[in-house]
Amino acid sequence: MTKVGFSLLLAVALTAPLLTRPARAEETCILCHRQLREARLRRPAVEWPTSIHAQEEVSCVLCHGGNGEDETVSAHDPDSGFIGRLSPMQQAERCGGCHGSTEGDHAPDEASDAWAQWRQSAHGRAAEAGSFAPGCADCHGAHAVHEVTDPRATVSRANVVETCAYCHADPGLMADTTLPDDQYDQYIESVHGRKLAEGDPDVPTCADCHDAHGARHGTEAAATGCKHCHEEIGAAFDRGRHHEVFANYGFVDCVECHGSHEVAEPGAWLIGGGAQAACRRCHGRGQEVFDKVRKLGVDVNRAEQALAAASDEKRQELEETRRGMVLALHALDIDGVSGAADRIVSSVGPVDTTDAQAAPSSHQPAHAGRAFWSAVVLGGLFLLTLLGGVLVGRARRRRS
Ligand code: HEC
Ligand code: HEC
Ligand code: HEC
Ligand code: HEC
Ligand code: HEC
Ligand code: HEC
Ligand code: HEC
Ligand code: HEC
Ligand code: HEC
Repeated sequence: MTKVGFSLLLAVALTAPLLTRPARAEETCILCHRQLREARLRRPAVEWPTSIHAQEEVSCVLCHGGNGEDETVSAHDPDSGFIGRLSPMQQAERCGGCHGSTEGDHAPDEASDAWAQWRQSAHGRAAEAGSFAPGCADCHGAHAVHEVTDPRATVSRANVVETCAYCHADPGLMADTTLPDDQYDQYIESVHGRKLAEGDPDVPTCADCHDAHGARHGTEAAATGCKHCHEEIGAAFDRGRHHEVFANYGFVDCVECHGSHEVAEPGAWLIGGGAQAACRRCHGRGQEVFDKVRKLGVDVNRAEQALAAASDEKRQELEETRRGMVLALHALDIDGVSGAADRIVSSVGPVDTTDAQAAPSSHQPAHAGRAFWSAVVLGGLFLLTLLGGVLVGRARRRRS
């Protein structure tokens, strides 16, 4: 066959379907937009065919409205409900409206509560008030929307942190809010962030702690989030005295010692009276509890030094005992900790302890700001208690 003949055949083969089939809703929009010069106008027509929506025939008009039969720009007929650039509120209505139920043409197989969650979230409330906030397409994209488990999706595990950070790590975009912009920088250096980068499927992303659509406030997220995954430690913590007093003071359980975005690899540096120890923020020298704090620190420290000197085999053998010590620590079971430390130390044998304090790790959480405010809160509460005591005492004396 000649080259010309082949080309002719190919051209007929390619155009035949368009000539014989009546134009489907998306085709007039796509056909024109695919040829437009301006990238902003062309890109949607190139990206959409790759999306999950194209597979489900969720075409241009189902989101934008307009007249899908019209081959001219009057296809953008406002009377047919055409909207060009959908605002976050309009996105919620069009995307959320379809995703909220399984009824109607091209409806999803499963209903999603995305719209309901988003509407009552900080994001949705800000959008409703006309402030800057993400609509559905800011997180999912508008045209290259993929299934959330698809690695190409902007909200896949590998991509979601960057998607949140696009706004939350941008000082310019965060300028009009009261929120800090340091969560991303802290998170990627944290234990969780580093394991996510290694592909660990179980560590939390921004969306696991804050919810995908609820943008839950962090303290609310922490109240259940950490314990949900670190179940055993959570249960141990709930048995201890901290559980009760933290609730009374409004402290945020795990976060007070480990931080939230900056969670670092824990170790003996975190406990006791040392400069990096989390305990120092609330327990100062001279307080009655301080002796107990220091004893816990000394016990954990000597156990860890013994473990560091032990052979791999020995360390493995002692793992359960070490784990028991960590659980006892979270339950503030002082005897439990020293008992486990004794067992570890005697099992490993004598260790050279000239280098007494364990070297602080380079990944410690930044506690400075918190420390100040915890001190202020504790100090204030202490004074209030004193004042309360004095007043009650006076009232009693007056009555008697
Ligand atoms: C004959 C060509 C043509 C057809 C058919 C067409 N468009 Fe357009 N579209 C354009 C051009 C040109 C622009 C840019 C100028 C303008 O906004 O009118 C545009 C702009 C747009 C915009 C951006 C509007 C904005 O405010 O920035 C959207 C969204 C859009 N079209 C969607 C659609 C949809 C949906 C359909 C099918 C119902 C469609 N177009 C059919 C040519 C077309
Ligand atoms: C699932 C819903 C959905 C579908 C389907 C959809 N769009 Fe859009 N489109 C949007 C949203 C939402 C925006 C606004 C995005 C934004 O502002 O970031 C948008 C924006 C646009 C824009 C403006 C882009 C810009 O940067 O200014 C054009 C042009 C456009 N769409 C054309 C199309 C065409 C053509 C089709 C069909 C091939 C289509 N859209 C299908 C939701 C959709
Ligand atoms: C702040 C970012 C963000 C916004 C805004 C957002 N989403 Fe999502 N969405 C996500 C993330 C992250 C996931 C993945 C959740 C997961 O892996 O559990 C997701 C999952 C989904 C899913 C699949 C799982 C489910 O919940 O059914 C749908 C459908 C969805 N979103 C629709 C929407 C719609 C509709 C809107 C607008 C009302 C919206 N999303 C707004 C981040 C967002
Ligand atoms: C006309 C209905 C309709 C509209 C409008 C619509 N979608 Fe969808 N969407 C679907 C269908 C159908 C699927 C395929 C998955 C299914 O059946 O559950 C889907 C899939 C998705 C998924 C993947 C869900 C998953 O389980 O992994 C996301 C995310 C999504 N859409 C977001 C959006 C966003 C964002 C918009 C608006 C910009 C939007 N959708 C508009 C019908 C719609
Ligand atoms: C398009 C930008 C943008 C994206 C993307 C975005 N956010 Fe936001 N987010 C904001 C803005 C703006 C606010 C502040 C809203 C306000 O004015 O209260 C906010 C607020 C928040 C809050 C604070 C809630 C509170 O109670 O104070 C959390 C938590 C949050 N976002 C989490 C996320 C998570 C998680 C993601 C990714 C899944 C994400 N955001 C994606 C812009 C964004
Ligand atoms: C391990 C759980 C966890 C992860 C992962 C996480 N956060 Fe948080 N986030 C928290 C906690 C707890 C707080 C509240 C305490 C604080 O401010 O440190 C918080 C606070 C915030 C705030 C301040 C407003 C508020 O809700 O208190 C924003 C904004 C925020 N996180 C965004 C993000 C972003 C963006 C990511 C991903 C880069 C992320 N978070 C990852 C737990 C988490
Ligand atoms: C989605 C589940 C999940 C959530 C939510 C979560 N974590 Fe984690 N966390 C993990 C996984 C998985 C690891 C890495 C495996 C391991 O060492 O346990 C980890 C590691 C850690 C480590 C280091 C453990 C070690 O031995 O080095 C600490 C400390 C930690 N998380 C504290 C927290 C705190 C505090 C919160 C709440 C602010 C939290 N986690 C929320 C799953 C989670
Ligand atoms: C009073 C401070 C404090 C609080 C509150 C606290 N932790 Fe810890 N956590 C520590 C210290 C100190 C270590 C290091 C112990 C060691 O090195 O043996 C540790 C270790 C850990 C580890 C590592 C476990 C391992 O096997 O090595 C995880 C995970 C952890 N904590 C999670 C949590 C969670 C989840 C919460 C909330 C339920 C929480 N922690 C509350 C001080 C605290
Ligand atoms: C956010 C503040 C805060 C932090 C951080 C903190 N504690 Fe406490 N702790 C308290 C409060 C409040 C009490 C109750 C004080 C009292 O009973 O007088 C308490 C009580 C205790 C007690 C006494 C328990 C009992 O049964 O008598 C011990 C032991 C203790 N903490 C150890 C520690 C250790 C070890 C650390 C560091 C790893 C630590 N705490 C970090 C606030 C904190």
